[in-house]
Amino acid sequence: MRNAILVTGGAGFIGSNFILKWLAEETSPIVNLDKLTYAGNPANLASVAHDPRYRFVQGDICDQDFLDSIVHAHRPRAIVHFAAESHVDRSIHAPDDFVATNVVGTVNLLQVAKRYWSELVGTERSAFRFLHVSTDEVYGSLAPGDNPFSELSRYDPRSPYSASKASADHFVRAWHHTYALPILVTNCSNNYGPFQFPEKLIPLTILNAKEGRPIPVYGDGMQVRDWLHVSDHCAAIMAVLEAGTVGETYNIGGLNEKTNLDVIGAVCDLLDERLPAVAQGRRRNLITFVKDRPGHDRRYAIDPAKIQRELNWTPRETFETGIAKTVDWYIRSDAWVESVVTGDYRRWLTQHYGGAET
Ligand code: NAD
Ligand code: TYD
Repeated sequence: MRNAILVTGGAGFIGSNFILKWLAEETSPIVNLDKLTYAGNPANLASVAHDPRYRFVQGDICDQDFLDSIVHAHRPRAIVHFAAESHVDRSIHAPDDFVATNVVGTVNLLQVAKRYWSELVGTERSAFRFLHVSTDEVYGSLAPGDNPFSELSRYDPRSPYSASKASADHFVRAWHHTYALPILVTNCSNNYGPFQFPEKLIPLTILNAKEGRPIPVYGDGMQVRDWLHVSDHCAAIMAVLEAGTVGETYNIGGLNEKTNLDVIGAVCDLLDERLPAVAQGRRRNLITFVKDRPGHDRRYAIDPAKIQRELNWTPRETFETGIAKTVDWYIRSDAWVESVVTGDYRRWLTQHYGGAET
């Protein structure tokens, strides 16, 4: 396919939202390379499965020969790298997978991209981009009065997940400084929206609250995250790919700092408005304080001034509009929920929460 972009991890939450948005708004084709771990679900992309501009290939970014063959077969004009192990709690239980995919897999992809890019000539070479999708968690944890993270904030990762992503970010920048690979890095705050796997706070809360099951809150529930609707993250990535300055980092955030208890309360109230009451009465009554996450980061917040100023991006959804749309999506998407609630997911809930939420 001519002029394609190659996406890794496109069957996951953000990658699939990105592909759907890309095919709706752009004309050029997209190749999705995904291993289909527990977090990857081709059903997310069922609506574009027959679009001639969309191609899916199953494979592992840890396999360099495979990556080489895909890159040479499709000759992409850009690589957008989403593939990762992405769940902090899983990284605490099983860090090895995070090193393998997030660090070694990213280095493999960089090696393959460098070889491919160095063989390109003319505008194909000058237009090529490698966009690495990363997280605000690489900057560590903020105290209540601290300024939000900027692109100049010091790296201070504190979980196996954030350490693996920080490591990947450093390798990506090293491939630019050492080999001149034309990279872009984005560091984004917490996303929410359709197709998010229900191990993360918002979908887990929606599904448990919907069914009248306990809603697990780690520690005191006063941790703060900066929530961004996934459609705004995808729009930001498209803006960076289109017009970002090679070698630069762009922080992406929703200007929506909320405590976990505020987020959970908002979800409960929206469900109470939309669905019949549960046995416990108001869904806020389902909130159950559980043991805190080890090393739990207290606060993340992003200053998105650079991407706003340089690329004219700004979030379209407020937390109120985005969370209402998301709750409505999960209410009407029973079939999707059923398709992702696999044996692996049930085992995870049993191992992590002691079975109370299954
Ligand atoms: P996700 O866990 O929903 O999806 C990850 C995808 O990567 C899955 O489809 C999985 O099958 C695939 N994958 C995993 N290992 C692979 C491998 N070895 N080879 C090929 N494919 C593999 O994650 P997400 O929430 O969509 O996050 C996507 C990216 O965005 C990640 O890099 C993450 O660090 C970053 N990010 C996420 C958030 C968030 O709030 N979810 C915020 C900022 C940045
Ligand atoms: P999560 O969705 O795992 O994202 P991250 O850890 O990458 O920010 O968690 C968001 C916040 O919600 C975090 O402070 C941990 C908390 N949390 C709970 O209190 N209960 C839960 O069951 C989960 C999954 C998360």
